[in-house]
Amino acid sequence: MKRSIIVLMSLCAAICLGACSNGSGSGKLVMATNAAFPPYESVEGDKVIGIDPEIAQLIADDLGLELVIEDMAFDSIIAAVQSGKADIAMAGMTVTEDRKENINFSDPYTTAAQVILVKNTSSVQSPDDLAGLTIGVQIGTTGDIYAEDIENANIERYSKYFEAINALNQDKIDAVIVDREPGKVFVGENPDLVMIDEEFTVEEYAIGVAKENTELLDNINASLKKLKDSGKIDEIIGKYITAE
Ligand code: ARG
Repeated sequence: MKRSIIVLMSLCAAICLGACSNGSGSGKLVMATNAAFPPYESVEGDKVIGIDPEIAQLIADDLGLELVIEDMAFDSIIAAVQSGKADIAMAGMTVTEDRKENINFSDPYTTAAQVILVKNTSSVQSPDDLAGLTIGVQIGTTGDIYAEDIENANIERYSKYFEAINALNQDKIDAVIVDREPGKVFVGENPDLVMIDEEFTVEEYAIGVAKENTELLDNINASLKKLKDSGKIDEIIGKYITAE
């Protein structure tokens, strides 16, 4: 009799654990990001604001977790997720085959592109004109990877895009490769800079999760689907990005 009660109790506990867990374990959803990438993430006062933290907050709410944001160098984010220091990578991060070898990606939540920024006096009109020039990128980004394919280009790698933008303003470099929406923000803030119309590539942003954390990945995808279907993702993006 006693034994059957114990068996029953442990069965209940097991069912509850399975049903109540959200794949994070700690009650927190720790997001690794690099908050120098408006409108996706930037620092305002002591807060990280932008499209990514807003979407992450809705996912955390849906999963019953407390969102904690860790701001770090972009090229540290994947390692932070792999080591368990963070639960998710969310940093306007493009899905690439190389990155997929180290982390899993959720379903994409938006599309993006790499573009070229130059001084308004520059003769560069398309990606083909970049051969032999000095190009600024943020270290470890897809812009960095594309720059490597440009013939005879000299690549200057910065830890933040702002530093590349400053170097471009000071004519220390000839062009910056950056994601389109941050590129628009930088052009808006720097009157001497222009964006080349032709896009380099089309990309997709998604949330990175450690390979072994498949439960969290499934939960994030389920949340994302709900948020997409209800129009919430479009609403957040629309708050920061005006369609032309
Ligand atoms: N989309 C590019 C990439 O994944 C750049 C992302 C940079 N993000 C940032 N928060 N600084 O490589």
